[in-house]
Amino acid sequence: MRVIIYTGKGGVGKTSVAAATAKRTAKMGHRTLVMSTDAAHSLADSLEMQLSGKIQNIDENLDAIEIDILYEMETRWKEIEGYISDLLKSQGMGTISSKELAVLPGMELMSALFYLWDFQQNDQYDVVIMDTAPTAETLRLLSFPDVSQWYIDKLYAILRRVISMARFTVGKMVDIPLPSDGFLKSMQSISNRMIEVRTLIQDSEKTTIRLVVNPERMVINETKRAYTYMCLYGLTVECLILNRLLPEGEAGGYFAEKIEEQKRYVEIIHEAFDPMPILESYQMATELIGDKKLSMVADMLFGDSDPSVLLANESPIAFWDDDEHHIMALKMPFSTKEQVELYNKQGDILIVQVGNHKRNIILPLSLAKLEMTGAELKDNRLLVKFKRGDNQ
Ligand SMILES: Nc1ncnc2c1ncn2[C@@H]1O[C@H](COP(=O)(O)OP(=O)(O)OP(=O)(O)O)[C@@H](O)[C@H]1O
Ligand SMILES: [Mg+2]
Repeated sequence: MRVIIYTGKGGVGKTSVAAATAKRTAKMGHRTLVMSTDAAHSLADSLEMQLSGKIQNIDENLDAIEIDILYEMETRWKEIEGYISDLLKSQGMGTISSKELAVLPGMELMSALFYLWDFQQNDQYDVVIMDTAPTAETLRLLSFPDVSQWYIDKLYAILRRVISMARFTVGKMVDIPLPSDGFLKSMQSISNRMIEVRTLIQDSEKTTIRLVVNPERMVINETKRAYTYMCLYGLTVECLILNRLLPEGEAGGYFAEKIEEQKRYVEIIHEAFDPMPILESYQMATELIGDKKLSMVADMLFGDSDPSVLLANESPIAFWDDDEHHIMALKMPFSTKEQVELYNKQGDILIVQVGNHKRNIILPLSLAKLEMTGAELKDNRLLVKFKRGDNQ
């Protein structure tokens, strides 16, 4: 299963490009699903279809879904919702509805990731295309397997302790309802599934990010930052989609100036992102909705080629040895020494912070037991060095 995630600044064309790609891969015979994880869904408009929180077939080989958190709470999260509701009720907080619980941060993000897990288990699709919310929210989504894993493990450990203490002392806790077996099983399976989802989204052969960009200064700057953070979270950025280029043929004063400006920005983009592949699509004269327009965008971006084929798959993380060290290299484009911080290794965890984004990197076992001797930022990579043992 191939997962393609379109992301980028607000309004750059993520939804349009996701819809155009999905239409094209379906037409080429790939079983395709296009999924919107943006709470402000606009996929349905782009496709000119009615969509909902349930997967529905909209064309030959093509299914679509706009994730609906209320529906997810009533189905996928039932067990957990039930317990949290009981717990809050027991603390005098009255009845709480799934509607209110749906505001819990992360629930809709987790749902999107769980769909990926389902599809992988059932071998349901060849291609899954994700239309996401603007960058910041999407980063939350994609960093979630790392973070949630940690929280879930902690919570699970606490709950287990509460239960065993309750059994040991009074047989049953009087003021806190004990979680049911179903709840505990749910927690455990969430935890296990998140590990598998993390493996899937960090697999550079399967899951890639396509950053959508326009030839405008602010968009370019945000795209650079997004690239850095995607690398930090171990995700493979495959290409740029340079959308909304003005056609050169446009005559007249206003356009001539605009086109000159745009040329400069296109150069800046190439310089900054080289050698990453850049696919281009032009600004259309009218709104980009419906089959015909989407197909024109797919023609511009992909020509006759298959949009699901990997254009680049260099993983942001690499390992090698020199004479004295094992080296772990993390791609860290557009970063300066001042922005990157590395915290002491805590057991098998290395904490890397870039700006206000932080990631706990779980070290491979072979490195976890070695002494970290230093780190440097070189050629857009953070090189973390570990002392080699005598016989390694
Ligand atoms: N190449 C294009 N030519 C003409 N119109 C376009 C083009 N690309 C996008 N648009 C239009 O720009 C608007 C924004 O596009 P779209 O919804 O795809 O962007 P988005 O990045 O998904 O936005 P959001 O961040 O709000 O989700 C839409 O009205 C769309 O029809
Ligand atoms: Mg959108």
